[in-house]
Amino acid sequence: MEVVHTIPELRAAVARARRAGKTIGLVPTMGCLHAGHLALIQRAKQESGYVVVSIFVNPTQFGPNEDFSKYPRTFDADRAGSQQAGADLIFAPKTEDLYDPDASTHVRVAGISEGLCGEFRPGHFEGVATVVAMLFNVAQADLAVFGRKDLQQLAVIRRMVRDLHIPVRIVAHETVREANGVAMSSRNRYLSVEQLAQAKTIPAAMAAAKALAQTGVTEAVRLRDAAQTVLATQPALKTQYCEIIDLETMAKVTSTAGRKCAIAIACHLGTTRLIDNTDL
Ligand code: PAF
Repeated sequence: MEVVHTIPELRAAVARARRAGKTIGLVPTMGCLHAGHLALIQRAKQESGYVVVSIFVNPTQFGPNEDFSKYPRTFDADRAGSQQAGADLIFAPKTEDLYDPDASTHVRVAGISEGLCGEFRPGHFEGVATVVAMLFNVAQADLAVFGRKDLQQLAVIRRMVRDLHIPVRIVAHETVREANGVAMSSRNRYLSVEQLAQAKTIPAAMAAAKALAQTGVTEAVRLRDAAQTVLATQPALKTQYCEIIDLETMAKVTSTAGRKCAIAIACHLGTTRLIDNTDL
């Protein structure tokens, strides 16, 4: 597995792989890889001949009071994990490799990026869409794999790819969970053992809504109440949102009848923000 830091090196490696007849798969990450990321790399390896993992903690998607400076940087472990999972190349640029000091182009995906996390993290999805558009341009991959845990991010990226005619196929991979059901996230390492146990109330709340939906209930208010009742049993969890949403538009719905919907939850546990979702 190769490690490169600059765009010309990345492009040369990808061109060599293409000349060898390989299709290119991209797994964009911010590093601090866990089993969920490794599953994305394995998925990319199943679906393409040459897998590029990008590792870049993107400053533009962090708000001023968020954890950019303390976001864990674990490059050596990330390199070992990526290699084991089947990556062919790591692209680990510096900020100045991707962002010109004079850069003035931003990708804003209106509407779909404004509710849910977008409401509480202004500018976050603009930062994500901009860096992902750059990564698509520099890697020129045939497909890119994203985790389903970041459901709104996935929807924003799909919409951007559609609207800008970016020639990349987006592959969504199921959320990988800790043994107690909590969605894996790089931020789980901020949680104490006690908090990780408390966090399992989030998947339990989603399961309550899903179980009710499976009995035929379609009113969003009832499904949301079922989840909120469970969330309320764990006082350490401070709910930021708990919504029933349309899977494609991310818009809140009043009824799930006749459309594909999900429940999406964001909570704070101490200073750590956790998100999760499941189809209904
Ligand atoms: O999901 C992430 O890790 C990031 O938002 C991404 C897609 C790598 C963009 O920085």
